[in-house]
Amino acid sequence: MTGTIDIQIDKIAKSRVSEYDVNNVPFGKCFSDHMFVAEYADGKWQKAYITPYGDLPMSYAMSALHYGQAIFEGMKAYKNAQGDVSLFRPIENFNRLNRSALRMAMPEVPEEIFMGGLLELLKLDSAWVPTSETGSLYIRPFIIATDEAIGVKASETYKFVIITCPAGKYYGEPIRVLVETNYFRAVHGGVGFVKAAGNYGRSLFPTKLAQAKGYQQVIWTDSVTHQYVEESGTMNLMFVIGDTLLTPELGDTILSGITRDSVLTLARDWGLKVEERKISIREVLTAHGNGTLKEAFGCGTAATIAHIVGIGFEGKDYDLPPVEQRKFSTKVDEMLRNIRKGNVEDKFNWMMKVV
Ligand code: PLP
Ligand code: COI
Repeated sequence: MTGTIDIQIDKIAKSRVSEYDVNNVPFGKCFSDHMFVAEYADGKWQKAYITPYGDLPMSYAMSALHYGQAIFEGMKAYKNAQGDVSLFRPIENFNRLNRSALRMAMPEVPEEIFMGGLLELLKLDSAWVPTSETGSLYIRPFIIATDEAIGVKASETYKFVIITCPAGKYYGEPIRVLVETNYFRAVHGGVGFVKAAGNYGRSLFPTKLAQAKGYQQVIWTDSVTHQYVEESGTMNLMFVIGDTLLTPELGDTILSGITRDSVLTLARDWGLKVEERKISIREVLTAHGNGTLKEAFGCGTAATIAHIVGIGFEGKDYDLPPVEQRKFSTKVDEMLRNIRKGNVEDKFNWMMKVV
């Protein structure tokens, strides 16, 4: 960090934490005591403060609501057996937030505001970090455009906010996914590689259609040929075919996942063959047909590792091997959990201790 910032802190009179079992709450619905806010106006970041979690007073003309100048991040903090709280690769989220900001014509957040605000907030709300093996505190940093103005142009005022919520598993069970070849998530030259709010809004209708057919998620394909797989829901996609771990190569239509990078790093460290390249759905289904498709999974911060047990494509369903037979994804899931929980050596220096 290059410096520190002054954060005005207004503490809650009485913590609400005892009202919840933080190890057992639904994802994203129960928010911790405090939030961090920094305001941008007149070409620079102004005051930064921590205040009890609450509502946003705003105008109905607020620009984020109309034109989608809104970006976010998703990251997690973990508590180890000694009660220490640590973040997983937070600088990667900081860098990605600023890549999103640049693409969406929003101001970048200086590291001392992002990290300074985050660390202060976590120190105050450390009692909200779950202790269970699969629990964590989900952290949602975001920036919204706050001009009260209906003209279409980049806002001149913004809020950078961090809210947090205890989280368990995002998907309770392994998932079935439908390959989507009509709607698409991202186009070349678009915003698929950043975490812009609109990417998620546009995904909901196709996802709803897939869910009505009994799938939990879609697999997005490329918008030009619809032949190559890209991502699934809010996750990067991985396959084990034969003895190789395969994942779609990054580009401007795919989010550069921090979990993706962590899984690839571990796989390479374990000596597994790894390929980042275009993967056609035909290639995946051919491997399914000849028995070499061993594993398929999505990976992301909220979802961690989500095993894919069925793929739907052009009216046919393809069942995949049961989770118990999956050597790589179960091992990498366990290793990530152990690193995050401080149960094993943090060989790649991924954890940053907070308190
Ligand atoms: N792809 C999309 C579209 C996502 O929303 C996410 C979640 O953040 C990911 C991939 C996985 O990224 P990460 O592992 O950094 O959470
Ligand atoms: C994450 O994994 O952090 C995501 O962004 C998914 C989310 C939209 C719940």
